[in-house]
Amino acid sequence: MTNRFTVSGLTKTYGSNVVVDNLDLEIEHGEFLVLLGPSGCGKTTTLRCLAGLETPQGGSIAFRGHPVFDAASKTSVPAHKRNIGMVFQSYALWPHMTVAENIRYPLKVRKLKKAIADGAVEAAAAMVDCGALLDRYPSQLSGGQQQRVAVARGLVAEPDLVLFDEPLSNLDARLRDQVRSQIHQLHQQLGFTAVFVTHDQSEAFALGDRLAIMKAGKIEQYDAPEYVFENPVSEYVAAFIGMGNRLELRRGHDGWITSASDVIDLGASVVRDRADEGDLAVARFRPDDLLLHRSTEDVPAGHIALHAELVTYEYGGRYFDVTVKTGVEQLAVRAGAAEHSATLRGSRPGDPVVVSFSPSCLRVYADPDGDTASRPDLVASTSGGLS
Ligand SMILES: Nc1ncnc2c1ncn2[C@@H]1O[C@H](COP(=O)(O)OP(=O)(O)OP(=O)(O)O)[C@@H](O)[C@H]1O
Ligand SMILES: [Mg+2]
Repeated sequence: MTNRFTVSGLTKTYGSNVVVDNLDLEIEHGEFLVLLGPSGCGKTTTLRCLAGLETPQGGSIAFRGHPVFDAASKTSVPAHKRNIGMVFQSYALWPHMTVAENIRYPLKVRKLKKAIADGAVEAAAAMVDCGALLDRYPSQLSGGQQQRVAVARGLVAEPDLVLFDEPLSNLDARLRDQVRSQIHQLHQQLGFTAVFVTHDQSEAFALGDRLAIMKAGKIEQYDAPEYVFENPVSEYVAAFIGMGNRLELRRGHDGWITSASDVIDLGASVVRDRADEGDLAVARFRPDDLLLHRSTEDVPAGHIALHAELVTYEYGGRYFDVTVKTGVEQLAVRAGAAEHSATLRGSRPGDPVVVSFSPSCLRVYADPDGDTASRPDLVASTSGGLS
């Protein structure tokens, strides 16, 4: 019997609003899956269907080979029998219970008296460095401590599947990093299976064994983080995982033409047979893949250079986040502080600059923002195809 968690054809509607749309997912036992997507795309609803807190209209869900939901046969295992741990955005601790009672709660519900006797509560509290807080009430804890207690409560009963719904988003930046790394360590130690919802790409990359990027109730891409980072399947995914720069391109006689009428040579790998003159495409790339120069003389060999003007810059410590304008588009450049401080500090909006990038950084999509499947021949990574 399979050890996987399987979701097939899951569909959840509210009235005429299809919130989860025929969604398929396979989660390996012990895998940490991150569900990533913008607000309203159906992440929480998907989790709630897994937990048994929502009744889907269609599809099926099986945990390690055991069906817990099947619309066709009207099977639905109730939430408390699914052996799931949940950690929410709002810590959702019981205010009238101490830390120890909160962590003990899932064991009591499941009548796991032996685990309680064996010190499972204390062990779970110690795992998240809350061993000294067992007698306190939630109101006597910081946000970070409350969320760590919630993590302990989610894991204490050794559930088959742990569901995390944006558990870090109420924490300030420093605590978020701490609790994130604690969750990561616990997963490595304990090997539980997790579905972790977020709309934060850095969380997704840091934690996920695989990422499922959701768009309007469907999974748009489902791959390892490194693969998604290098090969976003659509412009939607590219934009969502940090390729914030966008250049609109039109196919001309000698290459692709930007909105500023620069002709750029993306190489043969992108310009497939069906790239006819007049065809449109969109290139996406990251701010840290762009270099900033004072003149074209400084542009490295093999780079594509664009003339631009300075819009604004912000100091970020080791770097400046610089915004430049080229044609109709604004581009973000992350420029090293050491090399650029003197020039930038003396510059003004409107000053001419040059930006450059290696063509291998670009991801080119034929169908802006949309479904790339319609012109797969045009969708190409330029990496590897260029010399
Ligand atoms: N009980 C409900 N009744 C009607 N519509 C709902 C209900 N719950 C969610 N929705 C709608 O379903 C869609 C998906 O909601 P969901 O909470 O799953 O989004 P999400 O991806 O978790 O978003 P966020 O990142 O903001 O938490 C939204 O348009 C939402 O308004
Ligand atoms: Mg949500």
